Amino acid sequence: MDHFTYRDGVLCCEDVEAGALAEEFQTPLYVYSSGTLREHYRRLQAATAPLDATICFSVKSCHNLAILRLLKDCGASFDVVSGGELRRVLEIGAAPSSIVFAGVGKTDTEIAYALDVGIGWFNVESEAELVNLGSIAESRGVTARAALRVNPNVDPKTHVYTTTGKRETKFGVDLDRARKVFCDFDRRPGLDLSGIHLHIGSPVNTVEPYVEAITKTLALIDELSRLGHVVSAINIGGGFGAHYDGSEAPAASVYAERIVPLLKGRSLDVMLEPGRSTCANAGVLLTRVLYSKASGDRRFLIVDAAITDLLRPALYGAFHFAWPVAPAGRLVPPRRSGDLKLDGTGRVDIVGPVCESGDFLAKDRWLPPVERGDLISLFSTGAYGFVMSSQYNSRLRAAEVLVAGNRARLIRRRETYDDLVAPERV
Ligand SMILES: Cc1ncc(COP(=O)(O)O)c(C=O)c1O
Repeated sequence: MDHFTYRDGVLCCEDVEAGALAEEFQTPLYVYSSGTLREHYRRLQAATAPLDATICFSVKSCHNLAILRLLKDCGASFDVVSGGELRRVLEIGAAPSSIVFAGVGKTDTEIAYALDVGIGWFNVESEAELVNLGSIAESRGVTARAALRVNPNVDPKTHVYTTTGKRETKFGVDLDRARKVFCDFDRRPGLDLSGIHLHIGSPVNTVEPYVEAITKTLALIDELSRLGHVVSAINIGGGFGAHYDGSEAPAASVYAERIVPLLKGRSLDVMLEPGRSTCANAGVLLTRVLYSKASGDRRFLIVDAAITDLLRPALYGAFHFAWPVAPAGRLVPPRRSGDLKLDGTGRVDIVGPVCESGDFLAKDRWLPPVERGDLISLFSTGAYGFVMSSQYNSRLRAAEVLVAGNRARLIRRRETYDDLVAPERV
């Protein structure tokens, strides 16, 4: 699952004690394990090998340059959703042709930037965007290779905010309209509409929604072929699960067992856009306890991390397992799940310093006794963790550290008060 383990009663990332990292780099601190990132990437690569699939790591899930570099060295291509993400992957020397650009609202500036550097694919979400993409490309004397994002109207059975393949969401074009779009845009100057893109939601912890969505899409591809439109590539998106509350995510091989037979033997280039399945379990957020206080029957641990560092609990009610880095009595958790209630533990809410009641990181958790100055680890925070951080309340964004074996490297320095005010010195 990952390389965060308790050894002699203290949390280690690979061969480095988490407490030593917090001492050296201060808190709040994101800590990532290189071994875990590589392992999750390689498992997906091995599982999809029969398709010779192109794995485009979804940069939105974790955008640190060092992590992108590590994944590029593993062979990853990249999925970006903004000019900023494009800039990040160019910064690490990714081949432009290995980049796919998704998103419902690409601006003209972003489109021009992506065309000028020569990215591989635009994942296009509407007829209006195709018109715009075609005309910008034509005006620059180039052809944009485009995949139409279809909305297969499949329920991924995940949080409503991260459900993206149902008709009522803003994403893609429904399958009936997709047929017409291929007819209308097949031979437009500036456009090579030759791919289909899907992304049904995240996390999708069962395989059936993928099977349903891919099956519907392949039927569309066959119909388009009968109508004379050649679709050369299918991008099945991301959304594969990670372990947050126990071991709830299917292994890469379990997804592949059902998905590979659907796609194998078809003359289609296959792409995937995994994010959280690669990086969620590869990161923890370390935070220090500032104060503890009681209110009615509740006990609050007020820590130095906040929703500005980890938004997911407040945004989605997301669960992140929390446990002290050096638990009293060496009470090591036998598993990381919300139903853990061991002898010697007490119920707490872990909250941050931000002036909002929504500023919580974990609620109703049974933890060993914790004192001011103790460290707590919030697990499985490698995806949609740091990337969603903000400066609300003029808080400084956390530092990030990458561990490999017994070595730890600062990969993003903690922000300073100068970083806060510099853009406003205009
Ligand atoms: C188009 C697209 N592709 C890929 C992803 C990555 O999803 P995940 O991190 O769950 O794999 C997302 C996430 O929102 C997405 O919108």
